[in-house]
Amino acid sequence: MNVDSVTAVYFSPTGTSRKITEGIVKGIKPARSNVVDLTDAERRMMPLHVSEKDLLVVAVPVYMGRVPALVTEWLSTLTARKTPVVCVVVYGNRVYDNALLELKDTLAARGCVPVAGAAYVGEHSFSSEEIPVAHGRPDSSDLAHAEAFGRAVRDKMDAVADSSAMPELHVAGSRPYEGMTTLWDVDFIEVADSCTQCGVCAQICPLGAIDTQNSALVDIAQCITCCACIKRCPQQARSIKPSLVKDASLRLNKLFSAPKQPENFL
Ligand SMILES: Cc1cc2nc3c(=O)[nH]c(=O)nc-3n(C[C@H](O)[C@H](O)[C@H](O)COP(=O)(O)O)c2cc1C
Repeated sequence: MNVDSVTAVYFSPTGTSRKITEGIVKGIKPARSNVVDLTDAERRMMPLHVSEKDLLVVAVPVYMGRVPALVTEWLSTLTARKTPVVCVVVYGNRVYDNALLELKDTLAARGCVPVAGAAYVGEHSFSSEEIPVAHGRPDSSDLAHAEAFGRAVRDKMDAVADSSAMPELHVAGSRPYEGMTTLWDVDFIEVADSCTQCGVCAQICPLGAIDTQNSALVDIAQCITCCACIKRCPQQARSIKPSLVKDASLRLNKLFSAPKQPENFL
């Protein structure tokens, strides 16, 4: 199968799923590629139609062992017809549970043909300099791995005439998926006096949960605790205050310090 064009779809509040996707696409080396960034709320309003001629790469972070609910919701609007797809989950060095299988099943139900799957490690959303969890991942070795995976995907595509000849893909995981799709409502962000009200946090929040006039005001019911506003604050004025999120970060730091390695399913 010719891989002329790749459509990379990702949701990536803190950028790790995006980096992994870019590494994979680099390895596939298509003539053309385009990006559907679901982190942007406006982009999530638009459905996607893909054909047999496209190759999709779909990457999501693992939230509570699951595909984030807002991604699953958007995927229900995807129209595909025998479209080959590479399914990728990025997790914070704890566990990806059944999220990769969930992503594969969801995409297959929309008319995609899963070609390959992968689980990569990304810096945990709750990680900080003081309480690191997979801090700095994906690192250069993860990205080289992602690129090599992309090359292997291309080889697999080259070996078949069309997507109906693709052998059934098996990935890790079991059904029912379990985990949690509803996230907690938690007040956990501290805003220091160094905040200049520049508005970057409100602009990049994937849920629009931060007040555009007063960035200390967060709509807790909307917030998905992705921590994009904390990690991307130009003044580093935002941090995790004592809360359930802080407790979780301490637990993760203690229990999941041993670095996990990427896994590929081809
Ligand atoms: C609400 C929430 C739940 C999470 N649940 C898990 C989990 O179950 N297992 C895990 O290893 N990491 C978990 N993480 C960490 C993210 O999967 C990880 O940091 C990922 O790299 C973030 O992707 P992004 O940089 O593309 O936003 C969670 C993060 C958040 C915000």
